[in-house]
Amino acid sequence: MPEPHAIPAGLDVTVVDHPLAAARLSTMRDARTDNATFRAALRELTLMLIYEASRNLAVERYPIHTPVARTTAFRLGNPPLLVPVLRAGLGMADQAHALIPESQMGFVGLARDEETLQPTPYMESLPETLAGRPVYVLDPMLATGGSMVHTIELLTARGATDVTAICTLAAPEGLVTLAEANLPLRVVTASVDERLNDSGYIVPGLGDAGDRQFGSV
Ligand code: URA
Repeated sequence: MPEPHAIPAGLDVTVVDHPLAAARLSTMRDARTDNATFRAALRELTLMLIYEASRNLAVERYPIHTPVARTTAFRLGNPPLLVPVLRAGLGMADQAHALIPESQMGFVGLARDEETLQPTPYMESLPETLAGRPVYVLDPMLATGGSMVHTIELLTARGATDVTAICTLAAPEGLVTLAEANLPLRVVTASVDERLNDSGYIVPGLGDAGDRQFGSV
């Protein structure tokens, strides 16, 4: 598998380096992959990213009896809030929830203001307070990083201090933006790609993650 591209110092980035992740990501990258197959590969890759992201979640211990003996059982002590960013993050939501059924889900919808070119929220369905709660932001593409910074600012405004961005792909430029924003954040991704092109697409990337899932409507 290729070497990851540059990761800015000081930013906590986990690149999930696993043959199954590489195989599903390759299916997603391939321009011949149809929408249904793309969605299935995204779901499977999401499962791997969430599994890796949740490795250090807090657990509570409690006593149980198996049919044979007493033992200690475990449950999540503080399940994360899952926050898919509409629309491309929708394709990650179901699988993330299936893997962590204890979690609640919020939603953020961002549109680009055509005058300022800044991401503007048109939907913010989040708990009043996020203090002390881990939050997983689900967005397949970390491109310029602008939308991700905006989303995380919505979360930190509600007290979040423990945010994980779960992205199938990240561009080095987006990671630099996140590092410079100095937010309480780590990133879990399947690849750090080469660069952004002039149209803001990740290269080699996979195209428009929303269109690849849902068709270009
Ligand atoms: N968003 C996408 O869907 N694809 C890119 O390459 C960049 C941003």
